[in-house]
Amino acid sequence: MKRNSAKDIMNLKGKRPIVCLTAYTAPIARALDEHVDLLLVGDSLGMVLYDYENTLSVTLPQMVEHAKSVVNASSSSCIVVDLPFGTYEESKEKAFSNSSDVMKETNCNAIKLEGGQNMYETVKFLTERSIPVMGHIGLQPQRVLIEGGYKVKGKSKFEWNKFIEDALSLEEAGAFSIVLEGMTEPLAAEITSKVKIPTIGIGASPKCDGQILVTEDMLGLTNIAPKFVKKYIDIEEIIKKAADQYSSEVKQRQFPSEKHTYQMNLSLVEKNESK
Ligand code: KIV
Repeated sequence: MKRNSAKDIMNLKGKRPIVCLTAYTAPIARALDEHVDLLLVGDSLGMVLYDYENTLSVTLPQMVEHAKSVVNASSSSCIVVDLPFGTYEESKEKAFSNSSDVMKETNCNAIKLEGGQNMYETVKFLTERSIPVMGHIGLQPQRVLIEGGYKVKGKSKFEWNKFIEDALSLEEAGAFSIVLEGMTEPLAAEITSKVKIPTIGIGASPKCDGQILVTEDMLGLTNIAPKFVKKYIDIEEIIKKAADQYSSEVKQRQFPSEKHTYQMNLSLVEKNESK
């Protein structure tokens, strides 16, 4: 099956909603692949898989290893890999060198970075050098310390212009799509109508061209999920039930049963030994 490219994702705007989820590991990527258009190896893996306080400590080698497993275990989704904090802000040259390493080592389709107008030169530099880029504006988790928390954007119309300019800059710089995170519906609708590239919302209303969620949030594998998350299943409860049953079967010597045990033909062994 042919894998979706960044261009294929771009061409979905106006046709149908674009379905995206995060994936950090092979088993999750394998299960999601046929149901989504795009899988994001997000730096949210720092909080979800490693229990870090925020995404700032995630490193490029970590992203590369997780991305490799997601690419290997999928065949049709467009794979986008997040550039972690500190790997692209310093200069466009550094951003290019790190992005091209990620692309060469993982075989992914595109990279994602946070920022709008401030990243114009960097995104242009990357896209002019053949690296497909997904932008990320609105609530930017890598700005958590400077903003003092995770705050929903666009509640006052005074701040709208900044976000609209951010989106237009990314489009002009050649980004193939933009994640809109944590913003009010009217602002997300305004941005989506103003740009020709698809907007992918997370906590940004149904007015975006597509949606993304952190997979572990929607599977019930994280303990603090924000208001915008719909929990489709409670996997943690299912794991707990299975572990509880395993524990009691081991204690009562019900597991392993005959079915799960290797046997051997003792009479054949005795014959061979007597020869
Ligand atoms: O890191 C991530 O998972 C993301 C999504 C929240 C869009 O950036």
